[in-house]
Amino acid sequence: MSETEFPPSNTLPVLIDSDRIRKRVEELGRKINEDYKNQPLVLLVVLKGSFLFCADLARQLSIPCRIEFIRASSYKDAKVSSGQLQLSELPDLRHANVLVVEDILDSGLTLHKILEHLRSENLASLEVCTLLSKQIPRDIQTEPKYIGFEIPNRFVVGYGLDYAERYREVPDIRCLD
Ligand code: IMP
Ligand code: MG
Repeated sequence: MSETEFPPSNTLPVLIDSDRIRKRVEELGRKINEDYKNQPLVLLVVLKGSFLFCADLARQLSIPCRIEFIRASSYKDAKVSSGQLQLSELPDLRHANVLVVEDILDSGLTLHKILEHLRSENLASLEVCTLLSKQIPRDIQTEPKYIGFEIPNRFVVGYGLDYAERYREVPDIRCLD
């Protein structure tokens, strides 16, 4: 892949700056603390895109927490979903209160597949927290309980989100299209 495909991150327009992200993550943390009271929670982090979000969110939580990871990959190096999804093996989550932590809800396919797996696992509870949700019509109905930001239908990078594995380290969320 040629470097011309990757403009420097500071030339990409900012959609949500790091300050707004930080404040919103604090709000989400407070809400989750209130909702779960002191019930232990398992954060099920969907890799790789939500690694920064989860790191920041987890540090806002005052409830007892376990952090587990699941790997979902569908985009390869494209900006449009290939429709094919690979999921890694699930940790043992029986009787746990599970909060799936996602980076972005686009078509909803990834989340749908993950929830489908989890629903057969005999959990105490299952909810979803996504940092971003694209405002697009979806065939797949999955309404996360916690949404950081509703965004327009743009391809975004930064704060964990990549294009062909680039830009994950960028502190703001920026548009690449
Ligand atoms: P979905 O299955 O179409 O909802 O896509 C979800 C996954 O695709 C996310 O977890 C992201 O990893 C990736 N994705 C979707 N939209 C974007 C985007 O705008 N930028 C970067 N990654 C994206
Ligand atoms: Mg990705």
